[in-house]
Amino acid sequence: MASQVLVAANRGPLSYALADDGTLSARRGGGGLVSGLSAALAAQPEALWICAALSAADREAVRRGISEPGVRMLDIDPAVYDDAYNGIANSVLWFTHHHLYDVPREPVFDAEFRRRWDSYTAYNQAFAEALAEEAAPGARVLVQDYHLALVPGALRELRPDLRIAHFTHTPWASPDVLHMLPDDIRSRLVWGMLGADQLGFHTAAWAAAFISGATVDDVHGVADGFVPREGHQGGVHHRRLTEDGSYGEMRFTGVGQYPLGVDGDDLRALAHRPEVDDKLAALRAEVGDRRTIVRVDRTELSKNILRGLLAYRELLTTHPEWRGRVVHLASAYPSRQDLQVYRAYTASVESLAAEINDEFGTEGWEPVLISVQDDFARSLAAYRMADVALINPVRDGMNLVAKEIPVVSEAGCVLVLSTGAGAYEELRQDALTVNPYDVTATAEALHAALTMPEEERAERTKRLAAAATALPPASWFTAQLEALGG
Ligand code: G6P
Repeated sequence: MASQVLVAANRGPLSYALADDGTLSARRGGGGLVSGLSAALAAQPEALWICAALSAADREAVRRGISEPGVRMLDIDPAVYDDAYNGIANSVLWFTHHHLYDVPREPVFDAEFRRRWDSYTAYNQAFAEALAEEAAPGARVLVQDYHLALVPGALRELRPDLRIAHFTHTPWASPDVLHMLPDDIRSRLVWGMLGADQLGFHTAAWAAAFISGATVDDVHGVADGFVPREGHQGGVHHRRLTEDGSYGEMRFTGVGQYPLGVDGDDLRALAHRPEVDDKLAALRAEVGDRRTIVRVDRTELSKNILRGLLAYRELLTTHPEWRGRVVHLASAYPSRQDLQVYRAYTASVESLAAEINDEFGTEGWEPVLISVQDDFARSLAAYRMADVALINPVRDGMNLVAKEIPVVSEAGCVLVLSTGAGAYEELRQDALTVNPYDVTATAEALHAALTMPEEERAERTKRLAAAATALPPASWFTAQLEALGG
């Protein structure tokens, strides 16, 4: 049956595991986007979620015709998928939008890059074709993230009747960094996105960056835009150059800001499951009555975990009174380990944590308790016992951890938040804010957080939790559906 509401995202709500006896079982997929979207879709039981088969077990499920209601997995050739996901989405687009290039050496746009770009185009085309097949006339389609930036344009070609939105969960590159991409590729990216009726970003800053990048593009057409302001939509008027060199019809793409938040009740229920209580008891036994500085991230270059550890080391050096009285609980759970640079980063994080423990640790005190496992229950237990949360990304689309910790922390928690996090726009008034590159300022902010009077801490936590839950996933999703018309 054709669907009225469709979602397309690289990662699906579930993945399969293949047992030794050949049976397949479904498990819930991981990551922030998946939990946000799954929560939002709980209220949309008729919606169809199209995603990629990510593993051999997923592909096997597709081949055997096994599926769950509301989910369609696409069996994309593994080599094409690897080029698209690792080679372009995570190595080029992610690096561009997060300004992560080590510029004397990167980026290099050569023949190999163009070969991968062709795979990225094919992977986007596969999603567009599946959506075109599954959508009812006039259906609403919500495409997610930088993996699928070309889908709106490709889908509009196939099905001009559909109403198409695209949401970017990352930052959008500033125009000068976006212009590092070859002109024709940058243009395809921007015009792929402009195929949508509606574009969404977490913050006003990322929406404005998209609009300034799009409006100076001149390869495939002309565009003129205005940024969203004080609750009003922004947008871009554009005309595309056709093959005969004339301009096509003028179209309009709305650009809006939808700052994803957390569902407080859901999160508190998750954080009080018996499994989390057990982890909490174990952590409490290890930490004793010491204060805690908590962070939880993917092992992700843009999260700035190394400078966070350096700041903690500086805190222990310049404020020796904290030695033996504080513990840094750091969870860095594995992510994108197919990329060498991520493996090297993970190793550097572990080795810096070990160095700090060697330098300051004593018989009964381990200064950094680091976990590089994917252990959501342990992370939630750490949230509950956080006195201070350290969230210092160099650049981040939103950062939901900054919103989750104040909601579940039991003792009231001071948020040390960098200006690079998308969450900074909403949380800056009640956080202690830092420049993510300034290790000394971060160390001082940690000290200020640890010494903040009880009452002020509680007041700030309350306001942070209110801001964090202002737009929970279900409302975030509905707002975007409404922007496409009823
Ligand atoms: C970022 C992206 C999401 C993605 C998540 C995990 O937050 O914006 O789209 O789900 O990272 O990344 P992964 O590569 O593991 O899907």
